Amino acid sequence: YRNVKVALLGAGSVGSQVARLLLEQGEELAGRAGAGLELTGIAVRDLDAQRDVELPRDLFTTDAESLILGSDIVVELIGGIEPARTLILQALGSGADVITGNKALLASHGPELFEAAEQVGAQLYYEAAVAGAIPIIRPLRESLAGDRILRVMGIVNGTTNFILDRMDTLGESLEDALEQATALGYAEADPTADIEGYDAAQKATILASLAFHTSVPLVAVHREGITGVTHEQVVAARKAGYVVKLLAICERLLDEEVSDGVAARVHPALVPLGHPLAAVHGAKNAVFVEAEAAGDLMFYGAGAGESRRRPRFSAISCRPLAAT
Ligand code: HSE
Repeated sequence: YRNVKVALLGAGSVGSQVARLLLEQGEELAGRAGAGLELTGIAVRDLDAQRDVELPRDLFTTDAESLILGSDIVVELIGGIEPARTLILQALGSGADVITGNKALLASHGPELFEAAEQVGAQLYYEAAVAGAIPIIRPLRESLAGDRILRVMGIVNGTTNFILDRMDTLGESLEDALEQATALGYAEADPTADIEGYDAAQKATILASLAFHTSVPLVAVHREGITGVTHEQVVAARKAGYVVKLLAICERLLDEEVSDGVAARVHPALVPLGHPLAAVHGAKNAVFVEAEAAGDLMFYGAGAGESRRRPRFSAISCRPLAAT
């Protein structure tokens, strides 16, 4: 095998799981990729910080810049704008391909990063930046590139979906449900980003830009979080046949006058109980795509927190009808 040198920046809840998978499944991945994936180091701010996963100490360094040099692939999972932005630009500048899960950075500096990648012919991948484990970036960018997407509606923040679901099914308060979401590792370090809709708005800019082949800036996304949602509203919605979900809605404006227009917004919405998005519970995410030729598509899965659990709906729970 050719050996591909992979540098990891950041060892938070996502970064440490990526390191674990690379170390545990290196051989298997190499077989599939046709190249050895060698984790050369993990750059962190604090060498002694508590990690979610036990990882070899000698992999850790505080010198991200040196680690980047000589790497073939740089995986950025630090989050936030700086130093992530500078390090990604350095990595691309050195000719490395970059993989990032950094929705905030892509939402605010996407065009700069894409341009930097294009200039050197490097690749910038960001599948995990929106809706966690759900493959949605590649389908929008590639599989559906020949179609005309009319609308994308996403439950793209697991924390708020978890909270609204608990308010609806258990009658729990927003504060108590948020405490749970934080304990389970779904919420951002500052959960304001979740409950005020900033996180979903960042993801909406990424989805809208991909779906409509344009660059939708974050400031253009109307944003309203869930802090104003009351228990009474949730109960009344259900009685009327709806469930309250925080949706990121990106749509092509059909108005003749603004035929090239695109609108993106994030706000609590009334989803009819029969709609597939109404069945998305807990911290799960889903992205519902309406396309001209393909029709309605839905992408569903884990969107927040680390996932080491087995799927809940295993084949075993789908017994043959005749056996019952
Ligand atoms: N805080 C985010 C969420 C994490 O709850 O969806 C995943 O981006």
